Amino acid sequence: MCEVIVIASGKGGTGKTTVCTGLAVALAKAKNKVLIIDCDSGMRGVDLMLGISDRLVYDISDVISGACEYADALYRVEGDFELYSIAAPLYADDEVSPSLIRRFVDQVREEYDYILIDSPAGTGSGFYAAANAADRALVVINAEPISIRGCKNISYRLRELKMTDCRLIINRFDKKRFFDMGLYRDLDEVIDEAGMRLIGLIPEDMRVIALSQRGALAHNWSQTAVIFDTIVKRLEGVDVPIVVK
Ligand SMILES: Nc1ncnc2c1ncn2[C@@H]1O[C@H](COP(=O)(O)OP(=O)(O)OP(=O)(O)O)[C@@H](O)[C@H]1O
Ligand SMILES: [Mg+2]
Repeated sequence: MCEVIVIASGKGGTGKTTVCTGLAVALAKAKNKVLIIDCDSGMRGVDLMLGISDRLVYDISDVISGACEYADALYRVEGDFELYSIAAPLYADDEVSPSLIRRFVDQVREEYDYILIDSPAGTGSGFYAAANAADRALVVINAEPISIRGCKNISYRLRELKMTDCRLIINRFDKKRFFDMGLYRDLDEVIDEAGMRLIGLIPEDMRVIALSQRGALAHNWSQTAVIFDTIVKRLEGVDVPIVVK
């Protein structure tokens, strides 16, 4: 049975698109058939990170409006796995309404093991469309106050949507920087303040930036790939301890 997961954050730039693509690749490598739906209209990024933007002609608004067939807007990511992506519209004016996104997801979900939806930052209409179509949520934060505040905001909205399965990912974690800041006693304090159970701790890794700029995230993830593999295991209910490095 397919699981539809939204990747969200209150604050922009926490790493949602990076996490979405990284998890999608990890899930696909674990023999799952995976679809990423980019819901960040006007600021889409999944295609850039996966290196498929040169091939892109159609996006989800074209499918919904009937300007193309669903298969025309479905882009397969090259690799030894089954990973597909549907782009968000290039312009925010073409954003698709929450009810139509939901209907689309319900129509295609049984073709996949997982559908990951990349949400825009914040709690606007794009977030609502992404979250409303999902079964569970991953909220990405950085270990800092503004990001945690964003998480609380998102939590509140997710509760309104009756989403009960919400898990926290702390991204771009740098142990030295974290303790040098002197804002928190330890990571437990961050997790307590965010008010959500942790499912992944992803270190700051400069290679992630380099790979994402080159559209190579699907192919070479170095150490960070291992972290995504463990998050996938936890998503599937396996108890893998989280190590703070
Ligand atoms: N673990 C990491 N280590 C180093 N850099 C990272 C990491 N995760 C993400 N980044 C970098 O942070 C920047 C923002 O990441 P990303 O675009 O994934 O964030 P986002 O939350 O999707 O942003 P937006 O809110 O604009 O959609 C990118 O340059 C990305 O390469
Ligand atoms: Mg993004």
